Amino acid sequence: MISLPTSDDARKSAKTRLPALIFDFIDGAAGLEQAAQANTADMDAIKLMPRVLRDVDSIRSGTRFLGKEYSYPFGIAPMGMCNLAWPGTDLMFAGQAVKSRIPLCVSTASSTSLEEMLVATDGLAWFQLYVTGSMDLVDDMIRRAETAGYETLVLTVDVPKLGKRPRDLRNGFKTPFRMRPDQFLDFAMHPLWSLTTLLKGIPRMANYAAGPNSGGYDRTASRKGANWDYLQRLRDRWKKKLVIKGILNPDDALRIKQAGADAVYISNHGGRQLNSAPSTIQSLAAIRQAVGPEYPLIIDGGVRSGEDIVKCLAAGANFAMLGRPFLYASAANGSQGLDNFVGHLKDDISITLAQIGEIDINQVSRANLAFRT
Ligand SMILES: Cc1cc2nc3c(=O)[nH]c(=O)nc-3n(C[C@H](O)[C@H](O)[C@H](O)COP(=O)(O)O)c2cc1C
Repeated sequence: MISLPTSDDARKSAKTRLPALIFDFIDGAAGLEQAAQANTADMDAIKLMPRVLRDVDSIRSGTRFLGKEYSYPFGIAPMGMCNLAWPGTDLMFAGQAVKSRIPLCVSTASSTSLEEMLVATDGLAWFQLYVTGSMDLVDDMIRRAETAGYETLVLTVDVPKLGKRPRDLRNGFKTPFRMRPDQFLDFAMHPLWSLTTLLKGIPRMANYAAGPNSGGYDRTASRKGANWDYLQRLRDRWKKKLVIKGILNPDDALRIKQAGADAVYISNHGGRQLNSAPSTIQSLAAIRQAVGPEYPLIIDGGVRSGEDIVKCLAAGANFAMLGRPFLYASAANGSQGLDNFVGHLKDDISITLAQIGEIDINQVSRANLAFRT
């Protein structure tokens, strides 16, 4: 059995198993990829302060967030076309969410329908919405999420236009995804992925298969429908939990709180939109200060380990999400890869809490940071 404990191990393995075109779609970012690098570099720069001689035998890692109990304060970030990483990835993520009792945020551009994903996660899924294309299409998506029984809607607002990702442009990566003859060598050199994908069927954007959405999802379509007025209308329309994703600016965060959203989701889209965007972990303190100590904050971007999850909480977040590491783990070794990686995250959380002398993850605070500014 291959053991894949860390995100980095899974990434290396994914790189060998996937055609370059697919690996680059997952791993790549906007421009010179500086925002993506800053996410991990700034996360690495945060230090936690060890404390000694405390009884840390029984660690508590469960938490209540947005009205639901989770076994850990982390989840799977919304990602489109996950089944490109490996056939069946969406449902493997759902299985992992249930097994570990963590949330899985289902993307508008998921490869499995939003209805099927909510059932497969036993109600643990959140639904991520893009305001793109016609408003009829967007309304229909919200109606479907409501009918299916989603309790949390995550509106992503950091894609006013699709960012330029040089690796995708160089490789000719396009959606809807097709295997093109000029990419033949890349696919031929990764026969296991190529044959499995051909056998299981090339992934489609399942939420666009029928109804007013059957025209398909155009990643480059105008997003001008998403503005402050729309946020207010959506808040009036969606009565359950509403989260706004893609926030880096404290003024925006405060205005979102004042508009009545239930949480702000700090994200730079994994550095996939603006090369010179600040890292998320560096943006966190000012946002926490703007929205006050009690307001729920989610963060993603460069979270790679249990230690990183604890750092996010110490720096002021209530919940952390991970994107690419879950795709690497699935590409590396399917559901076993996910088990290994999530097992590593859980161990790491527990060991980190013991090292910093905390037994309850809900008690982690700025006091656990080694250097406070
Ligand atoms: C392959 C891929 C697809 C993504 N698709 C979406 C999406 O459909 N909706 C969305 O809100 N964010 C999307 N994201 C951004 C993630 O939700 C998340 O913000 C980012 O991956 C976090 O950074 P990390 O990968 O460093 O953990 C995507 C990210 C990746 C890597």
